[in-house]
Amino acid sequence: MTIDIFPAKEGQGRIHGMREYQQTYEAAQRDPNAFWDRVAQRLTWFHPYHTVREGDFTDGSVNWFSGGRLNVSFNCLDRHLKTRAEKTAIIWEADNPADTQHISYKQLHREVCRMANVLLAHGVRKGDRVCIYLPMVPELAYTMLACCRIGAIHSVVFAGFSADSLRDRILDCGARVIVTANEGLRGGRVLPLKQICDRACEGLAKLDSVLVVRRTEADTPMVEGRDHWLHEAMKAQRAYCPAEWMHAEDPLFILYTSGSTGKPKGVLHTSGGYLTYASYTHETVFGYRENDIYFCAADIGWITGHSYIIYGPLANGATTIMFESTPMFPNPDRYWDIVERHGVNIFYTAPTAIRALAAKGDQWLEGRDLSSLRVLGTVGEPINPEAWQWYYDKVGGGRCSIVDTWWQTETGGMMITPIVGANPVKPGSATLPFFGVEPILVNEHGERLDGNDVTGHLCIAKPWPSMARTIWGDHERYLHTYFSTYPGYYFTGDGCRRDEHGNYWITGRVDDVLNVSGHRLGTAEIEASINSAELVAESAVVGFPHAIKGTGIFAYVVLQADAESSDHDVVSFSVREQVTRDISKIARPDEVLIVSGLPKTRSGKIMRRILRKIAEHEYEKLGNLTTLADPNVVEHIVEAHHENC
Ligand code: WT7
Repeated sequence: MTIDIFPAKEGQGRIHGMREYQQTYEAAQRDPNAFWDRVAQRLTWFHPYHTVREGDFTDGSVNWFSGGRLNVSFNCLDRHLKTRAEKTAIIWEADNPADTQHISYKQLHREVCRMANVLLAHGVRKGDRVCIYLPMVPELAYTMLACCRIGAIHSVVFAGFSADSLRDRILDCGARVIVTANEGLRGGRVLPLKQICDRACEGLAKLDSVLVVRRTEADTPMVEGRDHWLHEAMKAQRAYCPAEWMHAEDPLFILYTSGSTGKPKGVLHTSGGYLTYASYTHETVFGYRENDIYFCAADIGWITGHSYIIYGPLANGATTIMFESTPMFPNPDRYWDIVERHGVNIFYTAPTAIRALAAKGDQWLEGRDLSSLRVLGTVGEPINPEAWQWYYDKVGGGRCSIVDTWWQTETGGMMITPIVGANPVKPGSATLPFFGVEPILVNEHGERLDGNDVTGHLCIAKPWPSMARTIWGDHERYLHTYFSTYPGYYFTGDGCRRDEHGNYWITGRVDDVLNVSGHRLGTAEIEASINSAELVAESAVVGFPHAIKGTGIFAYVVLQADAESSDHDVVSFSVREQVTRDISKIARPDEVLIVSGLPKTRSGKIMRRILRKIAEHEYEKLGNLTTLADPNVVEHIVEAHHENC
């Protein structure tokens, strides 16, 4: 297949052409400390740092901007008030388009201060954890910024997660206050958030308060002494609250994400380095300009929303859109409606959304004025060239730059990505590393693969300011997960090819993590849930190619000895229900196949490679089966798959 190359649209960005990219990249390589020292000047520091960077990957302990004092909320709000007080900070695009609100920097500042005072009144102090279980409502932004204003650590839990998942996260981070809503509204449907939250909080001793946003008029049972309406609490507070002087390395937030084993881990980000990197990449990669209307369609429950709806854009004084609904509501032209109504210049979404919209047909774009668009971004999973081309032609009208941004919850910001106006782009490639980022590829023996046209495991060789500092409560797991596989390097968990021109192509996870519609899920957590379903003895979960989701979930399930064959359909159904209840709808298996046994090595390890090939119908490519404890198992699975799928 020949791959088209799309030249950079020079003049659309902050970096002009490849020469400037290369010069800047090399400068950052030559003297990273001088480079990041310069970049960090974009923030307002209450007190200057004495050291740009300390530590490296050999002991996995890295600090950025030590000695520096700043406040993230001050950087996102107060410092803009002189010049941007009346500028819109957040356009809140509600589920019902008619309810849209514009929130200016001045208003946002006042609401955040009020919220900060509410938290203080509820006993929240510097270093305390606040769990946020909210849909995409303005109070979500108020609470996050209020936490950083007083030095509390927020942990946002995506409002699609189950009561059990929420409870696990509350317990793990030891939150004393939870902020939720009575109900959520999404795509015209009601989410019973308070009810879920109540189940999650049952019997939690450490919990002081539940603050409830009144999103709908529905009757909501409130627990006396524990639950409080947020609008009442905020009304009772002053709209002024001083910003704490935080250390650059003070924790900013915890965000849970799935790993290849065990329960989700609380990835911890800190203040100075994170904000420096989020704001700098937001401006540079997208070529952000002062009067742009910026729309990132992610949910703030994921890192994309943290870095590129809230922190990056607000630190840059941007107008950022917060979208409560779905791209399909009321019709599959909602994004284009938003672009047209608000005059969006920069639009950022996931490949899965692009594929889903393309599948609805081009008629939903017809007659829409999308001429305000200049930059289109994607994130979360590899984008297939067809989806890329559709995005480029139909949404961007061939005028817009596309940036395919590769990064992770742990990296805090974009790592490998085109930069608008700088590099030529090939559909499907995240192209080149951002300044200060040194990607390397290693083979399975941990040997560094130099030169071009090589494929291996993607690692990062040097610290960058927004890297995660630890896993909450489990620093050993942090060291083990990221720094033990290839000593001296940060291991991303992704496979990657560097092509003959040095461009990077992410090939997907090489560990037991699945990326379903851009959402990250661990096979181990899904299996644990399936195994708790009635009549299930054991299970194995693998990913398989899925036209819209990118990766679908395939579950192989072994029943207990006393199960009847008539139980098969019942179990398939109950397994899917169980996972939805335990984790979330996004983790629900697309396919469930009952099998008589799983392919295991003699030491009992499940050979997922074989299961993946079967799920892909590649029966002839199962590879070497001689290391299996019982090679006959495979034949049975192939038969069952052939008959049922
Ligand atoms: C994993 C991280 C970064 C915010 C959203 C996901 C995959 C992410 C790309 C991309 C190919 C991508 C990787 C990565 N991924 N962006 N542009 N091309 N793959 O964050 O939930 O932490 O997931 O998403 O596999 O490791 P996350």
